[in-house]
Amino acid sequence: MKVCSVFSGCGGMDLGAIGGFKYAHNHYSNHNVEIAFSSDIDPYAVNIYNDNFEHKSILGDIRSLKKSVPSHDILIGGFPCQSFSVVAQNPPRLGYKNENGKLFFEMVDILKTHKPKVFIAENVKGLLSANNKQAFPLVIQSFEDAGYRCTFKILNSLDYGIPQKRERVFIIGFREAEHGDAFAFPDALDSTIVLKDVLEQENKVESKYFFSQKAIDGMLRNRERMNKGRVQDPNRHCNTISAHLSKASLNSVDPVLCINDRYRRFTPREAARIQSFPESFLFNVSNTRAYKAIGNAVPPVLMWHVMQSVMIAMNNSVTIEAA
Ligand SMILES: C[S@@+](CC[C@H](N)C(=O)[O-])C[C@H]1O[C@@H](n2cnc3c(N)ncnc32)[C@H](O)[C@@H]1O
Repeated sequence: MKVCSVFSGCGGMDLGAIGGFKYAHNHYSNHNVEIAFSSDIDPYAVNIYNDNFEHKSILGDIRSLKKSVPSHDILIGGFPCQSFSVVAQNPPRLGYKNENGKLFFEMVDILKTHKPKVFIAENVKGLLSANNKQAFPLVIQSFEDAGYRCTFKILNSLDYGIPQKRERVFIIGFREAEHGDAFAFPDALDSTIVLKDVLEQENKVESKYFFSQKAIDGMLRNRERMNKGRVQDPNRHCNTISAHLSKASLNSVDPVLCINDRYRRFTPREAARIQSFPESFLFNVSNTRAYKAIGNAVPPVLMWHVMQSVMIAMNNSVTIEAA
């Protein structure tokens, strides 16, 4: 089957859709699909993508590129979420009243033109409450008007063998009623993976990732007034990895570590592992660009499970094997 991927970023969702990768002692089988089109507007994300896949992602704005989308069976896309997110909104979240918040209409247009069998859309949980709860019904109605029977669910990455709490809404729409009837979201798994399983050995972490004594003293002095840094417990799941981990400070809401009384931020590789990218996935860009692409991504393992459920509904499934 042919997949069209829009808003592809560095390819987290695409990797999960394709399968055929290892993560945390598991091998996620190939789903026997081929990416026929992939694109993103961010040149750094496209560079990362193109370093990791044989097929290439096209750099550009989907509003002008959509005319070159070829016919396909499956449309996937995590449409931009900033205007729906409840985190750090400045200016306040405008939802679909912001240009970025209207980009899901690009997926709707592609569905109307190409009529693929199924689509998978992903977004932040805030989509459900944005615009006084008006945005989500508009999104669903628009997909249904394009000819799709839609179902949605909030999935948490920690239920699928990923050491991160990350709640995201997945919307799945089928053209054929029989596929829609056969579809069920993946069941939560029994998984023991936690943050410490994906951390570097502490003595191998470069000094640039540690906070200065001045920053720590300032945080400890102002403990009551500050966010105190969101220190993560290595024995549990990590809080959501955001796109601005490069700016994580001891007074931000981003997760940080304190091991042996030393405070530090995650390395990009640790952030990638927390997002379930395989070790082999390359991030040959600056740390700031890498953190951004990683934080924006759909965890490949989570997408793999969603894709597997879609394939089962369409009678085309594969399995996880021990690596
Ligand atoms: C949530 S991220 C998607 C991440 C991706 N699904 C992954 O798993 O790696 C949304 C992406 O939409 C891209 N984007 C925003 N506006 C766009 C536009 N007008 N045309 C194409 N891509 C756009 C951003 O650069 C960003 O990479």
